[in-house]
Amino acid sequence: MYLLVNIDHVATLRNARGEGYPSPVVAAQICEKAGASGIVFHLRGDRRHIRDEDVVALKESVSGKLDFEMAASDEMLSFLKEIDPHLCTLVPEGREELTTEGGLNMNVVFDDFKERVFPSIRETDIEISLFLDPNPEDINLAFELGTDAIELHTGNYANAPSSGEADHELERLKKAAEQAHELGIKVNAGHGLNQKNLPKFIATVPHLNEISIGHALISDAVFDGLETTVTNYLGIIRA
Ligand code: PXP
Repeated sequence: MYLLVNIDHVATLRNARGEGYPSPVVAAQICEKAGASGIVFHLRGDRRHIRDEDVVALKESVSGKLDFEMAASDEMLSFLKEIDPHLCTLVPEGREELTTEGGLNMNVVFDDFKERVFPSIRETDIEISLFLDPNPEDINLAFELGTDAIELHTGNYANAPSSGEADHELERLKKAAEQAHELGIKVNAGHGLNQKNLPKFIATVPHLNEISIGHALISDAVFDGLETTVTNYLGIIRA
């Protein structure tokens, strides 16, 4: 199981004052030095945190896995190919949302992904991952498209209002991971994971490949330092 750190909110902090610091590239370097297997960024259509020049600089400096998270617009597809990262995670994107609010609705996007998005990315060696809620139907449609990986949306587990609801979500995530694994699809996961909810998630959900963590990790780093925080998350993952 590999930890990929999402450094979007280093850029959020930088942009809050219009300064050149803190630098997402320096953050990525510290994360990798501390043992993270790679870096994730979400280049949003509105460029609210990561910007195009950050993406170019990250491509030059990240030595581990680089995961370009994006909505499947023509603009992003064209920039994705220019950057040529290892992995592209496709997510739904809403202008008003504070953060990605759920997985892709595969019924809605299937035809477009089949005709436009997948053929375009398949001209490259970039791996494709689809951000999905743990729904059996969505996973079957992702398989039909020939995706390399899915990223299970863990937000409903992380934000569950009671331990009963968290356990219910964990059960769904576990079944979804088993289903994807049986279909030969790699299982990544992310959203809302933190040092408190990560141990049970990892202990329950099988076949996990890459875990993507951003907001909570960057928040912890404000108090503990980024290198120590990455070490702490790696400690949980390896335990
Ligand atoms: N995975 C996806 C697809 C996301 O959209 C996000 C949030 O940008 C994350 C993982 C990371 O979530 P968080 O910042 O809550 O750790």
